[in-house]
Formats: sequence, C-alpha cells, structure tokens
Amino acid sequence: MDHFIYRDGVLHAEDVAVTEIAATVGTPFYAYSEATLARHFRVFDEALDGMDHLICYAVKANSNVAVLKILGDLGAGMDVVSGGEYLRAKAAGVPGDRIVFSGVGKTREEMRMVLTGGIRQFNVESEPELAVLNEVAQELGVVAPITLRVNPDVDAKTHAKIATGKSDNKFGIPIAKSRAVYAQAAEMAGIEVVGVDVHIGSQLTDLEPFRNAFLKVRELTEELRADGHNIRRLDLGGGLGIPYARSNEAPPLPMDYGQVIKDTVGDMGVEIEIEPGRLVAGNAGIMVTSVIYNKEGEGRDFLIVDAAMNDLIRPAMYEAHHDIIPVLEPEVGADKVEVDIVGPVCETGDTFAKHRMMHPVADGGLVAFRSAGAYGAVMSSEYNTRPMIPEVLVKGDQFAVIRERPTFDEMINRDKVPEWL
Ligand code: LLP
Repeated sequence: MDHFIYRDGVLHAEDVAVTEIAATVGTPFYAYSEATLARHFRVFDEALDGMDHLICYAVKANSNVAVLKILGDLGAGMDVVSGGEYLRAKAAGVPGDRIVFSGVGKTREEMRMVLTGGIRQFNVESEPELAVLNEVAQELGVVAPITLRVNPDVDAKTHAKIATGKSDNKFGIPIAKSRAVYAQAAEMAGIEVVGVDVHIGSQLTDLEPFRNAFLKVRELTEELRADGHNIRRLDLGGGLGIPYARSNEAPPLPMDYGQVIKDTVGDMGVEIEIEPGRLVAGNAGIMVTSVIYNKEGEGRDFLIVDAAMNDLIRPAMYEAHHDIIPVLEPEVGADKVEVDIVGPVCETGDTFAKHRMMHPVADGGLVAFRSAGAYGAVMSSEYNTRPMIPEVLVKGDQFAVIRERPTFDEMINRDKVPEWL
C-alpha cells in the first residue's frame, strides 16, 4: 500500500493534490510520500522482529538527504557505496556506527574519509581492496571492521543488468575462495573480521535464490567459526522486488522474506543486517509530467510528455515497466486508447512505454509514473541540457521542495571556456 490515491477525482500524494504541487513547482517533478517511506521501513523492522538486527537502507535507491533523515530518525542504518553517499548519510544525521560501506572499487581517499568519520563496517569485495584497507587503517592508527562480500554463485532470476550473485559478475569474492581470504584478513593488524556479507541482485520476485544464498552463508559461517573467526554479524544485502505492474504482479512480502532469514540463519546467534533500497523507496515516489503533444503517427499514436529518459532511465535501460496514470481520474467506464509514451530527447530509446492502453490525456494534462521513488531521481542526468527535475516531499497536508530545479545559468556556468580559446 502507498499514499498515492485518487480523491475527489484528483490524484493525491497523502493529503496534497498532485495538481497543486504541479501548479507550484512546474513539471516534471518527483514527489515522495513520507508516510510510505516510514511504513516500508517499519514493515522490514517488523519482519525481523525477534532477531538482533539493523536495517541499512541502500542509499543508492534514493539519496535525497530529506529521505535519509526520515529513515535515519526512525533508527535505520545506511548502506553506502561511495564517499559521496557517506557524506549524505552523515548530513542526514546518521551516526557512523550505523553506516556500512559497500562497493566494488573503494578508493584510498574514501577509506580515509570513512575511517576518520566513523564506520560500522566495510563490506570488502576483493583481496587487493583488503590489502589497501589494511594499509590505510594502519596509516591512520585504527582498525577497520570488515565483512567479506562473498559471491555465492546463485542465480537471482532477475534482469541481467541487476543480477550480482553469479560467479561471472564483478561482485564479491567467490565463496569457495573466501575462507582463505578470511585467514589472510585475520593476520592483518589494520583489519578486524566481524562478519559475512552477501547481496545477490535487485528486483528479486522469488524467495528461493535468497534461501539458497543464505544457506550458503550459513555453511560458510560455520566453517569460519571452526577456523576461529568471531563471526557476529551477517549482512544479507538487499534486493526484494516490488510490484511495478499493479494489475498482475504480487512479489513476496517483507514478512515472507523475514521468515526466510529466520529459517536459514535465525539460530546462529548473529546480528542481522539487511540493505533494502527499492522496497523502501520505490513505491513511495511518483514522477509527474505534462503532456506536450498528442501526436498521430502512422499506425500508432504518441503521447509526448515533458519528462524524458534523462529524468527516469529505467525503461530505456532495463526495459522496465512503470504504471502510468492520468492525474485527473478518468470517468468510470471511459474508453482507453493505445499509445506509445515518449519523451522529447532525440533518441528512439527515449520511450517510456509501447502499446500502452491508457485513458486519453489532452495536451497540457498531467500524468503520473508510479513506482518512481527508487532509482529515479538518483539516476537522472542533464542529457540534452535538460535541468534535473525537482524532488518534492509530502507529509500529510504539507509539501516542500527537497531538491530544486537548477536554472539554465547554473547549469551552463559550470562549463568554463579557457582563456586561450
Ligand atoms: N546492497 C547492495 C550491495 C546493492 O548493490 C544494492 C543494489 C542494494 C543493496 C539494494 O538493492 P535493492 O533492495 O534496491 O534491490 N538501477 C537498478 C537497480 C540497481 C541495484 C544496484 N544494487 C534499477 O533501476 O532497477
């Protein structure tokens, strides 16, 4: 459930009419619901009830500082994958001991930054990274707490671009090899082993790959304990999928996912960390755009909207489906028409949906893309010199712009023409 519903014929975000936000900030824009974000965090918290746990929200899904503050204030930890994300989590008031640092290519500068600022753990992804972290920690006279991210060679059964747990992906250390790497880590003066980490992919709609991966982590943990390591934390990653097409998708619920965790590793006397991103933020956000033109093509009609692939790249990049609905509620029984919904960018790939059955929306009318709160704004760019679109947060009957649309001057003045040109 989310908080985007029609009321009196107009789509609302919580208690605010989307038309009112559009009139104030202009289109396109993203709008997030505070109540939905909070609810999704609590659903995970309840799913792990009875186990010592920390939910480390995957900042990459939606890294607006206001969003991070909502979750951080509820007690969430954060999973960051860059120095920049770490600084965002800090800016939102999240203490270092609730931040885990993931990512396949951490630099020395980033390591220094987080070791100085405070960190719960590094999820180390390779032997060279481990060696460098050991050096950096010793230079600073500290000890870096680590897990090794193991690659369990499990098929996540999701889109190839977002599967991470097969042995041919760039992520993690092959599980078979990891015991030897743990042995090396134990000898390093700048390193303290605290646990094991795994993340097999994103938008998983089947629990079996999770179960298989967690059982492999269990087996490894038993071996590592026998080898003398003090494994006290398991970071089980993120990845639980959300319904994008509401009419026909029903992925497993966090409660069922929590049960898989309890069944597989619940009795191991460890603290559980999970790193959900999409499920927390995805259905807590919409993208609102205006129709510029209804264009009749040969054999097909186009709805040309003022948002484009630079604002929401998921359809172009992953063939992703987003439900797209008129902001003014259609009459009951009104006929739908078949359209391709496209943006103004000069690429055929700038297509949000093909052959979509939709209620007609006149030029100037508003439409909303659902499930746009995760991997939407964060993946946007200024391609075609299109300003990054504003983000708006709604809470009850209040709303505020939480990231402004830049002016063209701000965008263009970042370019510098050298004197000698
Ligand atoms: N932890 C790690 C180490 C990750 O790499 C990811 C996502 C997560 C947690 C969070 O996964 P989630 O719960 O959100 O599925 N841009 C793509 C998704 C990329 C996911 C990358 N890693 C999309 O729009 O579908």
